[in-house]
Amino acid sequence: MKRLRELRKDQATRDKYADVSVNVKDFIFPYFVVEGQGVKEKIETMPGIYRFSIDTLVEDVKECYALGIDKILLFGVIEDNLKDPVGSLAYAEDALVCRAVKAVKAAIPEVCVITDVCLCEYTSHGHCGLLHDHDVDNDTTLPLLAEMAYVHAKAGADFVAPSAMMDGQIEALDQRLKKGGLRDRCKILAYSAKYASAFYGPFRDAADSAPAFGDRKTYQMDFRTHDQGIEEIAADIEEGADWTMVKPAMPYLDMIARGVERFPDTPMVAYQVSGEYSMLKAAAQLGYLDEQRVVYESLIAIKRAGAQYIITYYAKEYMQKWA
Ligand code: PBG
Repeated sequence: MKRLRELRKDQATRDKYADVSVNVKDFIFPYFVVEGQGVKEKIETMPGIYRFSIDTLVEDVKECYALGIDKILLFGVIEDNLKDPVGSLAYAEDALVCRAVKAVKAAIPEVCVITDVCLCEYTSHGHCGLLHDHDVDNDTTLPLLAEMAYVHAKAGADFVAPSAMMDGQIEALDQRLKKGGLRDRCKILAYSAKYASAFYGPFRDAADSAPAFGDRKTYQMDFRTHDQGIEEIAADIEEGADWTMVKPAMPYLDMIARGVERFPDTPMVAYQVSGEYSMLKAAAQLGYLDEQRVVYESLIAIKRAGAQYIITYYAKEYMQKWA
């Protein structure tokens, strides 16, 4: 008989044998940025998460930084009447996200600012690329994503994170940043294995980015596949990605683990997405689950699968209340 219970006989012994931990430096905290001043707007489906104008954003990032959170991810959210079929405000020189990046970097230069690069928040049809015959047109979308990344990098972004799931998007960004002389300063976090997931529901409410028709299944991955995720990660690394990602996180721990095993030299980021957050939040508010314990357990599971960094809407609350 193996006496494996010896390994967990008391707290000190369990601590001694713990393989993984959650640390503040693991966290990347996402933000939704809107135009205006003094805005801190509740998001109905994500209790505790807000849309901030640039001024209130800077104050909130300062609070996070004081808690030790030193990496953030920015999403721009614009008014419907400013959207157009080609997502012009995504890659304008003075785009909302560019101004947000400048303001954050001016106030707290130590914070690593990552920007999401995708057209769905800016197009009137709500798809992640240009449309042609009711489907996205991969190749004509690439230069626009590249331009968006370039203006973000020029504004001071440390990382650009293309999430449109267009083939060749990493190479397009890599080339554009090189041409602009910014590739040394700005890295690429590739949303590599991004699945067409219903767990993005609350995000689409937060970012007002639901597709006006159809779905994203021709570009985001089918979750009934085994190896396509690995192929996506391999392609992105080959095209020049510095970090890679699996998204969502908890329902896709297998893909995180396989990605890390296959590509041990590329840091793996896991995105605990809006639906994962809202699911835990809702159950906690109903008193069905112990929030602190399930959040800790979910973050540990993501680390145990092999993720080096976790994008999570829980980052700030975790550091305020549970660290
Ligand atoms: C696209 C984007 C989405 C998310 C991150 N980037 C929405 C989508 O692809 O439909 C979802 C993140 C979340 O659910 O928290 N710009």
